[in-house]
Amino acid sequence: MRIAFFDAKPYDRPSFDRHGEANGITFKYLEAKLNEDTVGLARGYDGVCAFVNDTVDRPVIDRLGEMDIRVLALRCAGFNNVDMQYANGRLHVLRVPAYSPYAVAEHTMALLLTSIRRIHKAYIRSRDFNFSLSNLTGFDLHGKTVGVVGTGRIGRVFIDICRGFGMRVLAYDKYPAPDLDSGDTIRYVELDELLADSDILSLHCPLTEDTYHLIDAAALERCKKGVVLLNTSRGALVDAEALLEGIKSRRVGAACLDVYEEEGDLFFEDNSGHILEDDVLARLISMPNVIVTSHQAFLTEEALENIAETTVGNLLTFAKNGQCPNEVCWRGGRTEDCKNGTCF
Ligand code: NAI
Repeated sequence: MRIAFFDAKPYDRPSFDRHGEANGITFKYLEAKLNEDTVGLARGYDGVCAFVNDTVDRPVIDRLGEMDIRVLALRCAGFNNVDMQYANGRLHVLRVPAYSPYAVAEHTMALLLTSIRRIHKAYIRSRDFNFSLSNLTGFDLHGKTVGVVGTGRIGRVFIDICRGFGMRVLAYDKYPAPDLDSGDTIRYVELDELLADSDILSLHCPLTEDTYHLIDAAALERCKKGVVLLNTSRGALVDAEALLEGIKSRRVGAACLDVYEEEGDLFFEDNSGHILEDDVLARLISMPNVIVTSHQAFLTEEALENIAETTVGNLLTFAKNGQCPNEVCWRGGRTEDCKNGTCF
């Protein structure tokens, strides 16, 4: 089987080569992101493999169909970059539902600690032999309240980590997990209460119509003054312009962002020699209390290994059975795990 692998990076290759070679799958690594202009590169291949910033919209789905390509293997969990409604009946969409919730949850805590203990400032100072402690005062996490939006795989690991620090947890989820609420140190509450009572707010829900700009100007207005916002989920959960205003007005005490709404053309690439056109991102990055990483939370050896193993497994299962438990599809107005391929 030959697969066109879009938006390929050097760190993708070792694990995909290893699992591909062991299972008779050849990956053609293409640096281009998948979109309407590049989809033609997939001609002659049996399927395509795509990542978070590839665009699988109607024109791309139509062109794949014309080239008789019926399977898209996403090497990520989220599928907000795929027009799932249009893909229904045209393209089988396979994904990696979980590869390492620890990678993302641990990165979230790394960002939080870096921010509130000013490690990013101290690191630069000590490299310049500046050992002054002025303006490096942080605060203890112990006893603070963290609000976790989305208590799925990653949110739950993050909650465990926060509990290790002695934090109180408020949780909000559209579909709460009955076993999670201890009534004491972890409590499900409505979103408004979570916003009002949290010292730290961490987003771990998917990007959907419901969650687009979940954190906008009105939500920030309901937050505690000085709240620390963590977003390692999807950029468009946060209205970046409202966040910038919140930082300027001091309502937001700090923000740590691994994702950004307009990251598509920027993240994963070296733009250091270019003039950044995005004024909101440039201004956010210029703030002393904002830390931005470029969609890096997933990037651990363990996660890369699991992503390659599951993606290859998905392609093999699909080739053998014409269906795959990790297929997602559009049914009754929402996207869900397909399990048996019956809704294609
Ligand atoms: P999951 O599917 O296990 O959990 C998501 C949770 O969000 C579920 O409990 C679900 O009920 C909840 N949810 C759905 N709609 C909601 C709403 N409207 N309001 C509140 N909660 C809602 O997903 P997982 O694996 O925990 O991943 C979470 C997100 O993390 C993904 O959707 C993805 O966007 C992001 N992610 C980011 C990565 C990175 O490198 N920065 C890597 C992997 C995932």
